[in-house]
Amino acid sequence: VRIAVIGTGNIGGTLARKWAAAGHTVILGVRDPASARVQDLISGAAGGTSVESIADAAKAADVSVFAVPGAAMGEMVRSLAADLGGKIVVDATNNMAGGPLNAFAHIAGHAPTALAVRAFNSLGWENFAEPDFGGVPADLFFCGPDGEPRNTVEGLIRDVGLGPVYVGGVDQVEVVDSVTRLWFALVFGQKRPRHLAFKVLTD
Ligand SMILES: NC(=O)c1ccc[n+]([C@@H]2O[C@H](COP(=O)([O-])OP(=O)(O)OC[C@H]3O[C@@H](n4cnc5c(N)ncnc54)[C@H](OP(=O)(O)O)[C@@H]3O)[C@@H](O)[C@H]2O)c1
Repeated sequence: VRIAVIGTGNIGGTLARKWAAAGHTVILGVRDPASARVQDLISGAAGGTSVESIADAAKAADVSVFAVPGAAMGEMVRSLAADLGGKIVVDATNNMAGGPLNAFAHIAGHAPTALAVRAFNSLGWENFAEPDFGGVPADLFFCGPDGEPRNTVEGLIRDVGLGPVYVGGVDQVEVVDSVTRLWFALVFGQKRPRHLAFKVLTD
């Protein structure tokens, strides 16, 4: 999969490394290609990782993954709208300023034909870097259109080392976001360690 990773901090950097190591073509969409963080990421990442402007990364990719501050998403999606139409757009952002954590309203408003998927938002980045808990992979809840978007993102979740748990279509976004709020309550409220994740158990 040709993946644009927009935002290369804790989340974007961790996901980009994992996907490059799994053999995907990763295009980092950045504001400043010369920054130390971007240069470190490129030098440590597997082959097949390149750096572009945010617009060029989104244009070139099949899947765009957003890992920027939630407050930046309105303008970001507006400016990229023409390049997101008909493609998978993974929203990993959390808007901490109040209102919905996700950016689905911005995506639906500016890029209504984009295939919005909510994933990689509900656990701290440490759990993406190290998804294994004593031999048991953590699960990751996600939602979005069934069919190809679901299958593609399931693969990307597995390639990070997590077990994908599909919660349903875009109408389930608040359910996925409630997992984020649970993680916040345990880690920030109850001061549990950030290496904390969830597992679905069934017979
Ligand atoms: N940290 C976590 O554990 C975690 C977990 C789940 C979800 N999230 C969510 O994921 C997103 C990223 O979190 P993070 O911890 O990775 O943040 P971070 O380490 O601060 O990285 C943010 C990235 O976004 C870029 N950026 C910031 N403002 C931008 C703008 N206006 N336009 C374009 N790029 C911009 C930064 O680029 P520059 O280097 O150019 O500043 C940087 O690459 C947030 O929405 C956060 O809520 C975080």
